[in-house]
Amino acid sequence: MTGQKKLSTHACSVIDAALEKYPAEQKRSAVLAALHEAQHDNKGFLTEELMDAVADYLEMPRIAVYEVASFYSMFETKPVGRHSISICTNVSCMLGGSDTIVEHVEKQLGIKTGESTEDGRFYLKREEECLAACCAAPMMMIDHVYHENLTPKKIDEILAKFK
Ligand code: FES
Repeated sequence: MTGQKKLSTHACSVIDAALEKYPAEQKRSAVLAALHEAQHDNKGFLTEELMDAVADYLEMPRIAVYEVASFYSMFETKPVGRHSISICTNVSCMLGGSDTIVEHVEKQLGIKTGESTEDGRFYLKREEECLAACCAAPMMMIDHVYHENLTPKKIDEILAKFK
């Protein structure tokens, strides 16, 4: 299959498993699974080369893959820190002091939202919309794990655990 040489053998096997769920003429249905695996396999971000490889592998237009990768916030198209932080700033969290939480995290990491730390440890991805944990506001998500009822002290303890 074309595109295979840019994707690892493991990534190809994961994509092949995803392809089994769809009719043979609907390979593009596996694009989210394919991009997810390609990103996971490349330290958390997609390159143009990898997106092209996914497009070739799934026999779909490259532009369509770029559109998917740029539409969904779970995909990164530039190098980012190893641990992705998203802080909820929607209504419940805002009322619970999310402004202070954002300020504290930015100060502790020495970066602004949207940036990664120089040591590559953290990526302060974005201010997030409601993550459905309002009863434990304010909250943030690190690598898809929720951290709730945040205080500056609790944040310091959480961040210290990440390498
Ligand atoms: S508003 Fe933050 S989790 Fe709902």
